[in-house]
Amino acid sequence: MGLGNDVSNLPKGIHRRWDLPEPALGALWDSILMDECHKTQLLSQAVMNFTVRPKVSRDVIPLHGVILLVGPPGTGKTSLARGLAHRVSQLFHNSRMQLLEVEPHSLTSSAMGKTQRAVSDLFSQSIAESAANGPTIVLLDEVETLAVDRSKLSLDANPIDIHRATDAVLVQLDLLAEQYPNLLFVATSNFPEAVDSAFTSRCDLIMEIPLPDQAACEQILRACLGGLAKTYPDVAGLIKSPRFGDCANACVGLDGRAIRKMVANALAVDPQTAINPNTLSIDNLLSAARYAKEQRIQRI
Ligand SMILES: Nc1ncnc2c1ncn2[C@@H]1O[C@H](COP(=O)(O)OP(=O)(O)O)[C@@H](O)[C@H]1O
Ligand SMILES: [Mg+2]
Repeated sequence: MGLGNDVSNLPKGIHRRWDLPEPALGALWDSILMDECHKTQLLSQAVMNFTVRPKVSRDVIPLHGVILLVGPPGTGKTSLARGLAHRVSQLFHNSRMQLLEVEPHSLTSSAMGKTQRAVSDLFSQSIAESAANGPTIVLLDEVETLAVDRSKLSLDANPIDIHRATDAVLVQLDLLAEQYPNLLFVATSNFPEAVDSAFTSRCDLIMEIPLPDQAACEQILRACLGGLAKTYPDVAGLIKSPRFGDCANACVGLDGRAIRKMVANALAVDPQTAINPNTLSIDNLLSAARYAKEQRIQRI
């Protein structure tokens, strides 16, 4: 995937801008394998934001246009958020919809005392300008860096600036929600307990993206081996092996990213397999999956 279809003249805090629809983002959506009903729920919530929110008073339903995806790292949250933007735009033809990707770290790493200002400028200028021009989806990836749980921050250890940045996010969210019903924020967090409760209470939907269950592990492993088989055809045989199910079972407890990386580790079992991945065996996969799980347990 490229860097976004516009990387020139990006305002501070926005690191990519995409004109939608964008097939590369659609491929991301398709690559995340999980219970379809969760994907449908997510898509429907996003669509409802653009259909119902402009028409229904905030006194009736106080929608803010914020969806939060929470779950362990590597479960597909960022991919889903980007892919969602594509899928929503597909349903609204000719809507000039855009996706803006915010980089919270670049805002909070501003010089001391400037974070609050950087956050305010981003929301009140860059995001507002885009929303004034057409429907806009904004990805707030790893939002815990922007909307830090103020109740857990000690003023001694943290600059007052960080508190004020969270305040600024909340103030700006309220203002934007009022002015631009064609704006949708999709936020992600690996650490929901670190996100300020005033932010989470503004979310229209908080969706938990769990570790893949047995069926999802099987799907991810099948998709990964199937993709590999396009280059190394013999790998396809592993999917048909009677022990394929054992491999999928051995992946339960790993996140989607770890499952795909585990396959790469299996290819690196010895130099011969690394040179010719067509020789990959079920045993290689099984031991790589077990090893990945052991490593994971040790890290917890
Ligand atoms: N449920 C899943 N199905 C298929 N692939 C997945 C799944 N979850 C994660 N992945 C893979 O893991 C990688 C990381 O996903 P990402 O969206 O960055 O996760 P997160 O933002 O939750 O850390 C992607 O390449 C993706 O294909
Ligand atoms: Mg992510």
